[in-house]
Amino acid sequence: MARFTLLSALFAASLAFVDATPFRKGVRAVTCSETWEPVTAQDFVDRLNPGWNLGNSLDATPGETDWGNKPVTGDIFDLVKESGFKSVRLPVTWTNHTGPAPDYTIDASWLTRVSEVIDMVLSRDMYAIVNMHHDSFMWADISKPDSNISEVEDRFRKLWVQIADKLACKSSRLAFEPINEPPGTTEEHGMELNKINDIFLETIGASGGFNDRRVVTLSGAGQDSIKTSQWFKRPANITNPWAIQYHYYSPYDFNFGAWGRTIWGSDADKASLDSDLKLIRDNFTDVPLVIGEWQVTPFRTEAAARWKYFDFFIRTANKYRTSTIIWDNGGDFLDRPAKTWRDVTALNILMDAVKGLPNALPDSTTDQSAPTQWTAATIFHRVGAPVEDATLPFLLNNDTVTRVDLMNTGTASIGSVPRGQSVQYRTVGSNITIPANVTAPYLSASAAPGSKPPLTITFTNGAPIQIQLVQWDTPVLSTSTVSLPPASATELAVPITWKGLKQPAAVRAVTVDDQKPIVDDWTAGIGSLQAGFMTYDGQWKWNDTHVILAQGALEAMGTVKRDVVVSVQGWPREEGNMVNFTVTAAA
Ligand SMILES: *[C@@H]1O[C@H](CO)[C@@H](O)[C@H](O)[C@H]1NC(C)=O
Ligand SMILES: *[C@@H]1O[C@H](CO)[C@@H](O)[C@H](O)[C@H]1NC(C)=O
Ligand SMILES: *[C@@H]1O[C@H](CO)[C@@H](O)[C@H](O)[C@H]1NC(C)=O
Ligand SMILES: *[C@@H]1O[C@H](CO)[C@@H](O)[C@H](O)[C@H]1NC(C)=O
Ligand SMILES: *[C@@H]1O[C@H](CO)[C@@H](O)[C@H](O)[C@H]1NC(C)=O
Ligand SMILES: *[C@@H]1O[C@H](CO)[C@@H](O)[C@H](O)[C@H]1NC(C)=O
Ligand SMILES: *[C@@H]1O[C@H](CO)[C@@H](O)[C@H](O)[C@H]1NC(C)=O
Ligand SMILES: *[C@@H]1O[C@H](CO)[C@@H](O)[C@H](O)[C@H]1NC(C)=O
Ligand SMILES: *[C@@H]1O[C@H](CO)[C@@H](O)[C@H](O)[C@H]1NC(C)=O
Repeated sequence: MARFTLLSALFAASLAFVDATPFRKGVRAVTCSETWEPVTAQDFVDRLNPGWNLGNSLDATPGETDWGNKPVTGDIFDLVKESGFKSVRLPVTWTNHTGPAPDYTIDASWLTRVSEVIDMVLSRDMYAIVNMHHDSFMWADISKPDSNISEVEDRFRKLWVQIADKLACKSSRLAFEPINEPPGTTEEHGMELNKINDIFLETIGASGGFNDRRVVTLSGAGQDSIKTSQWFKRPANITNPWAIQYHYYSPYDFNFGAWGRTIWGSDADKASLDSDLKLIRDNFTDVPLVIGEWQVTPFRTEAAARWKYFDFFIRTANKYRTSTIIWDNGGDFLDRPAKTWRDVTALNILMDAVKGLPNALPDSTTDQSAPTQWTAATIFHRVGAPVEDATLPFLLNNDTVTRVDLMNTGTASIGSVPRGQSVQYRTVGSNITIPANVTAPYLSASAAPGSKPPLTITFTNGAPIQIQLVQWDTPVLSTSTVSLPPASATELAVPITWKGLKQPAAVRAVTVDDQKPIVDDWTAGIGSLQAGFMTYDGQWKWNDTHVILAQGALEAMGTVKRDVVVSVQGWPREEGNMVNFTVTAAA
């Protein structure tokens, strides 16, 4: 009986759209036995702060485990909650679990799985946002010249009919987001995306259950602050409590490892972040705002720059009453199988900043045109150099050090101050000095290169800060010359022995004869730490044993047809910490 009712309801609903019958609330008449606690959009957005994204799991394609994460289990959300997060955004890609046109029937098992994961979050009294994710570029890209817009609208509507009906009785702690980062570059696209929002609202409202009063987060083209400000229109007849969601990954070069940029934190950097968050707030003074994705990954950014960004970003979001949900793909912050955070300091800084508590932060180079980059987040000691006291300049923000621990004993734990072995330190002004005899067992003229046990500095008010100890030397390449592989090759991997941190800071490629950058030649003018440097992932990568030139770099080399010198810059970005190899042009 239930099954028959649902099928006829679906049929009636799709007929209604074909006939353009005016929207009727609850036309599909899902009934719920649960009770509903009303919530305003502003309360929802305030209470979800801060949030965490379950990235690369339900949004992975074709299935949940295909991008390297294990099946989602409830204990992940226990840890996320214990760590201070109040909500989980659940990105979901539907296309690879969907049958063909004209019905686009979603596999019942996938709907059940999504419902189950939502329940894992809601049963822990956390807030959740569920969406349609990579569908946005896989089939719903209305900005493509050959896009069949009525087909996209039809498919989008039919998927939301099924999703909304399945989830109609979830509690008011679940919000819906129509579609992730919908592509769009023109006003016309912006208008079409407003229509997509209307279709979404009409479709969920028609399911019955609680969906006509559920919180929704809407957005404009690209789900970015500028295009949303420009073209997003408040839906005419909206009755759902609603917020605007946008995503923020700026500045692009710092966030994505582009053009050798590893520095952030100048006054100009801060002013531009403040201005971005302010402009969208000023456009929507009465709409609750949530940044549904943001991050700076510990995977490839320098710690002091990253921590300054975390602190400033969250404080600025607070200033503009904007809640934030951090993106985490499984390789960035939470090590899901190990159940540990890869950057506990960033997490602690985030949680303090959300509460408005000041943090003391290690200082670092903020001038992008500087010839070298220094940081107080890591004590780098070069092989062969004498043992010395390490002076770490801090931005204390009126805080005071209460102790310093060497983490060679004891373990860090979430939610409490990590403890190791208390060691001596001195403070002069805002400098914290660690005497040589504390680090001498690990950092000395003859110590083996690599990462050593860290120090944790504890403060009266702010987050504890973990300082890495790294003994380093210039990495060693196995070869100084390689030939450009054939055009069919997707990568060129060159064996390297890392001597310190097992990763490059940045990779540069210029022609041997005239030293011109092989990609983005405008970088020649932006300072020696960036001139000729390429972009992570598309042009270079690494692993524990190799530095890897990716397709973007190989294509550029194929185009310039000249010998190219590739420079691998290690950490720290100091004079001399660079090794070169030449890629000889194909004959
Ligand atoms: C997943 O779906 C997309 C879009 O429908 C399709 O292009 C892709 O081939 C599918 N992937 C698999 C592995 O089926
Ligand atoms: C667009 O898709 C619809 C089916 O949804 C189809 O009837 C129509 O012919 C398509 N239009 C074009 C231009 O391909
Ligand atoms: C709205 O946002 C746009 C795009 O960022 C910006 O140019 C404009 O100044 C903003 N309007 C207000 C009132 O802040
Ligand atoms: C909003 O309601 C008005 C009046 O009922 C109607 O004319 C209009 O089409 C509706 N707009 C949308 C986008 O549903
Ligand atoms: C530090 O304290 C001074 C004096 O109490 C105050 O003016 C200043 O705003 C404080 N700075 C910060 C970053 O809290
Ligand atoms: C703090 O350390 C920096 C870098 O070593 C040094 O230049 C500066 O003079 C020190 N400041 C004080 C107050 O000692
Ligand atoms: C380091 O030297 C100081 C005196 O200069 C001494 O008080 C302290 O105990 C020493 N610490 C270690 C770990 O040896
Ligand atoms: C690093 O990548 C190279 C090239 O893809 C591969 O041959 C090598 O096995 C990889 N090493 C590790 C440790 O994954
Ligand atoms: C590496 O190549 C760069 C760019 O051509 C050059 O400036 C630098 O001197 C080279 N370094 C070494 C160690 O050869």
